[in-house]
Formats: sequence, structure tokens, C-alpha cells
Amino acid sequence: MSPLDLAGDARVLWRLLWGQPRAGSHAQRLEGFYAPQAQRYDAFRARLLHGRADLIAALNIAPGDRVVELGCGTGSNLELLDRICPVASLASTQLVDLCPSLLELARQRAHAHGNVTVIEADATTWQPKQPVERVFLSYALTMMPDWRAVLANAWSMLAPGGRLGVVDFHLPGNTDSLPNRFWRRWFAHDGVHLSDQHLLALHSLFLAPHVEERQAPVPYLPGLRAPYYLFVGIKPVVHPPYPKGSRGDLPWLEAGGNALNPPQPPFETGGSRHVPQP
Ligand SMILES: C[S@@+](CC[C@H](N)C(=O)[O-])C[C@H]1O[C@@H](n2cnc3c(N)ncnc32)[C@H](O)[C@@H]1O
Repeated sequence: MSPLDLAGDARVLWRLLWGQPRAGSHAQRLEGFYAPQAQRYDAFRARLLHGRADLIAALNIAPGDRVVELGCGTGSNLELLDRICPVASLASTQLVDLCPSLLELARQRAHAHGNVTVIEADATTWQPKQPVERVFLSYALTMMPDWRAVLANAWSMLAPGGRLGVVDFHLPGNTDSLPNRFWRRWFAHDGVHLSDQHLLALHSLFLAPHVEERQAPVPYLPGLRAPYYLFVGIKPVVHPPYPKGSRGDLPWLEAGGNALNPPQPPFETGGSRHVPQP
């Protein structure tokens, strides 16, 4: 690594050590956290955020699809997407995020494509003008405090039969195990809130879940591997409205269960669980 790269990493590490600012709105805290590291974001996160290309491949995106990424950051997934299914062949690609300094880089990337829109908006409320075939979140759900509202919103924007994909850090097995307690605290300092509820909720909402639980190295933490998962599921073709309480809650989750043995959702899911064929 060149001295310039090391200096860039040092700036990112310094910001990570300080943690996410505690004051201000969610959007202000994100901007305060990311603005000082935006230029080095992609190079550093390429070594931290694993499985993104695999997630996009597992979404089985086809020409003509409308695609949304919630919490797109610098839009680096656009390049991965383009390799898997040419962006020019898609009906539209909409990249949504709340953080202006990261979105500025996403706009520079989108410039090369006529059909990519970059939108500064909150993933809990933003909706596309018409339903879309694919929605994905890559290492974003854990940074969204109202993640239940985000899932409710993602559910609403998907066309029946559309697919949701999530890749993110999580807490496998016993949430109170020593490694899980370490990772929960380590990530929380930077506004990343690991939960065993995310995968559970995804399992409960979407059909034919394709789930992979993995571990990946973390830059500058030799020997340690952070747990993450990939999830792809299908929105039922025949479905009632999103089964929510007043704030997009998932009330049936209170009924117990775990990610491997989730409680039944309050609607008829129909098909059996299987891995979607690419
Ligand atoms: C760790 S970054 C991941 C960025 C990108 N998906 C990637 O794979 O590199 C998480 C992103 O979620 C965004 N984010 C957090 N809360 C959000 C919200 N409520 N609405 C939209 N974006 C949000 C942050 O601004 C940040 O860009």
C-alpha cells in the first residue's frame, strides 16, 4: 500500500475511532460521520463490506427491470450491478441515500448512465413513482434506526413477485455470546446497530428465502472475522397489505421464533422455502 493510501486509511480510521456524532438529526449525524472520509470511502469499504457482488448476482436482475438501492452511499454498487446486468439494459436504477457528501460521489458515477437517478431522501419514506422489480440494501439496514419502517417501505415499493436483497453484518447464534457482544459494541460506536431481528423479519416477510451466513476479515483487526449475511426473498404475488402496526412494526415477531425457525407471518405465503434459481 502506498504512503498516500496509508494516509487515506488513517483519516478513515481516525473518524471510526471518534465514532458517529451523537448530536443532531439522523441525517446530520451521517453527514458528520461520512463527510471527512468520503474520498477514501470506497477504497476502505472494499476491504470491509464483503458479499456485495454476490448479493447483486443472487437478485437475478434482468434487462427491463426497475432497480432501487436504499442507502446507496457513493453508488459503488452501480459498478458491480453493471458487470452482472448492464445498467443501460435496465428500465431504471434509482439510488437513494440521506448523506449529501456520499451522494455527490454517487452522482459522479451515475453521470455515465442515462437511466440512473440519484435521490437524497430517507429510506423510511421515499417511494418510486411506480412499483419496482428489485430493491436491495447493502450494509445499510444496520445504519437505519427505524429499520422496520425501511422494510415496510421496501415492501410497499416492490411489485408482487419482486425481490428484496440485503447484505449486512449481524449476530449469528446466541446473541449474547462473547464474539457477538464484541461486534455489537464495536460497530455501535460508528452507528452500525447489529441485530438478530433483521434476518428474522426478512424471513417472515418474503418467500423462498435464499440465506447465506458468512464471516469476513476486517481491515486492521488481524485474525478477527465479522459475521455477515446475504438474504434474497420474493414478495408474494398474492398478498394483503403489508402486515404492520401504526409505525411499520412487525407485531408477529413478538410471538417468538428465531432466524432459523421464524414464526409464521400473518398471511398465507403459499410456496415452500427453496433457494431461487439464478
Ligand atoms: C455503510 S453505508 C453503505 C453504502 C453502500 N450501500 C455500500 O455498500 O457501500 C450505509 C449507508 O446508509 C445510508 N443511510 C443511513 N440511514 C439512511 C436512511 N434513513 N435513508 C437513506 N439512507 C440512509 C448512509 O448515509 C450510508 O450511505
